[in-house]
Amino acid sequence: MGAGLMGTGIAQVVAMGGYPVSVRDIAADFLDKSKTKIEKKLRELVDKGKLSEQDAKNISSRLTFTEDLKIALADADFIIEAVPENLELKRKVFSELDKMAKPSAIFASNTSELSIGSLASSTRRPKQVIGTHWFFPSQVMKLIEVIVTPETSHETLETTVVFCKKMGKETVVCQDAQGFITSRAISALIAECMRIYEEGIASIEDIDKAMRLGFNHPIGPFQLIDMSGLDVVYHALEGLTKVYGDRFKPGQKMAELVDTGNLGQKTGKGFYHYGSK
Ligand SMILES: NC(=O)c1ccc[n+]([C@@H]2O[C@H](COP(=O)([O-])OP(=O)(O)OC[C@H]3O[C@@H](n4cnc5c(N)ncnc54)[C@H](O)[C@@H]3O)[C@@H](O)[C@H]2O)c1
Repeated sequence: MGAGLMGTGIAQVVAMGGYPVSVRDIAADFLDKSKTKIEKKLRELVDKGKLSEQDAKNISSRLTFTEDLKIALADADFIIEAVPENLELKRKVFSELDKMAKPSAIFASNTSELSIGSLASSTRRPKQVIGTHWFFPSQVMKLIEVIVTPETSHETLETTVVFCKKMGKETVVCQDAQGFITSRAISALIAECMRIYEEGIASIEDIDKAMRLGFNHPIGPFQLIDMSGLDVVYHALEGLTKVYGDRFKPGQKMAELVDTGNLGQKTGKGFYHYGSK
């Protein structure tokens, strides 16, 4: 569900894992873009000699793109939701899915931090609701963070872990608490680095450099925020602040950038400049 940045990558990985996949979005335009993106990625793999022409064809043939929820859900065993990070929207999607998906189907949310329990409570199948938090780019990143609620059944967890492994991914299992492991840990680093900058201790460039060269992080926290979108990170920090207190509070500089529409790479400016967009 959702053919955006994450849904597209996830659909590609699942199809490459040998499973038939139905990709559903609310508009044909998003589906066309998603299909084109996957075809391009498969072509790149063929050109690099990492995939045969025949395998690429087989993967493409396992993918269907549709706006029609009924068609998308027909016979779906495992439904991955990757619609925007908005609890009310996700609850609505889960409730709709619950009415139309087959009774045995498992629902997995790709939320980065929202309550899986809250999503489960919008269905009549809380035992079959779980979190599968993928990372961007899904084709490359090894981890899927699996989130269970007190109601998630053992069978649902087991099926999910086996499914992830069959797609070549590694899993970690985590209880349903705001931010799980990864979003909570990276947000703590981001919030602290923001304070280091705002206290005038070091520049953005040097903080990023310190994290890259000192800890072998592939990119620094400010580069990561620019890549993810300042609005997205700001929203996540606010959510964590509500639950865990001020240690996650987004800094003043970030608030200013968000207020002025400087959201990172996607707008051409965030903590760094990216030329005109
Ligand atoms: N972007 C990331 O790096 C990242 C990483 C991990 C997890 N996530 C999470 O993944 C989810 C999706 O994020 P994204 O970055 O792919 O968002 P996105 O905005 O790129 O894509 C969301 C897609 O969902 C579609 N959509 C909206 N309502 C829908 C509905 N009712 N049914 C089907 N499709 C619908 C939209 O049209 C859009 O194409 C969010 O929960 C986000 O927090 C994002």
